[in-house]
Amino acid sequence: MKNTTSQTVEIHKAKTSKIDQVDFENLTFGKIFTDHMFVCDYVDGKWQTPKITPYGPMSFDPSARVFHYGQAVFEGMKAYKDDNGDVFLFRPDENYNRINKSAERLAMPEFPEHYFFEGLTTLLQLDNDWIKPGYGNSLYIRPFVIATQPSVSASEANEYRFIIICSPAQAYYSGDVSVLIEEKYSRSANGGFGYAKAAGNYAGQFYPTKLAKEKGYQQIIWTDANTHEYLEEAGTMNVFFRIGDKLITAPVSDRILDGVTRKSLIALAEKQGYDIEVRPIKVEEIIAAAKNGNLNEIFGAGTAAVISPVKAFGYKGEHYELPKQDNPYAAHFKKALMDIQYNKAEDTFGWRYKV
Ligand code: COI
Repeated sequence: MKNTTSQTVEIHKAKTSKIDQVDFENLTFGKIFTDHMFVCDYVDGKWQTPKITPYGPMSFDPSARVFHYGQAVFEGMKAYKDDNGDVFLFRPDENYNRINKSAERLAMPEFPEHYFFEGLTTLLQLDNDWIKPGYGNSLYIRPFVIATQPSVSASEANEYRFIIICSPAQAYYSGDVSVLIEEKYSRSANGGFGYAKAAGNYAGQFYPTKLAKEKGYQQIIWTDANTHEYLEEAGTMNVFFRIGDKLITAPVSDRILDGVTRKSLIALAEKQGYDIEVRPIKVEEIIAAAKNGNLNEIFGAGTAAVISPVKAFGYKGEHYELPKQDNPYAAHFKKALMDIQYNKAEDTFGWRYKV
């Protein structure tokens, strides 16, 4: 039943809300979803009228190409509520551009900008009550596109579905993480699609991460596929290393995801006069710094993970603990970033987007 229509989005409201059943103080990341979702189909060479419908299961033909060839891309975003109840997104244009860049690499059609922004803002307005104010509370937003065309022919599909679902979130990691530097497996290679937020990039890491977990590490840090000598990114976030007072992170490439949190942190660090280098970083440089007591911090940066400090790492059977810092850079940049996201600090970069 059609209830209302925004300028371009057909709205079918849920009859009841699940919100009263949710314990917002004890959320597990990505388990609970809001009352509505955004759906738009690509058929006959064009995106059809987008809809917002009650959140719920969908049915697909078992031969839909996403199930066989993994033609699927996604994004991770968050909405934040300030103390006045105003809701903000953080640099959503970056996510919009990146999902289309990912889609292009997987031979999927570009999604129209006004559908993306109108769909997203209409959805957030409908599910506004699910966005809780307070530092660390947010609504995790997952836009994704899948190939729905029924047929197991191994070529790009001509039918797709673009969907946005939202999940109330707190921290992704409950504490500091420990990571294993990967020596054997690779996330991506030159000319591959490591830069794309493609589902397959994540599926491919589950097995090496499972092996790392058996050794007591929560995450892996990928090294380059050719030599395994250079540090690239972690499974769920980009990575920064602090040697002495210098901050170093790997440059993006066709193997490394162009993270929004990563590039925001680099911009903040540059503006605040931190010594930051974006350059290839060798594993041996980190090991040498750890051995001579100069490796002060490692931390991850990502939308879900925000800024996640690393407490220890493993490499070639050796275990390295990172020293405790009085004023860690990780905490400094996390606060600087969140102050902007939660509308507590002046937004000199123009990153906040009011919903
Ligand atoms: C995000 O940070 O939004 C991501 O997409 C990482 C995901 C694996 C949770």
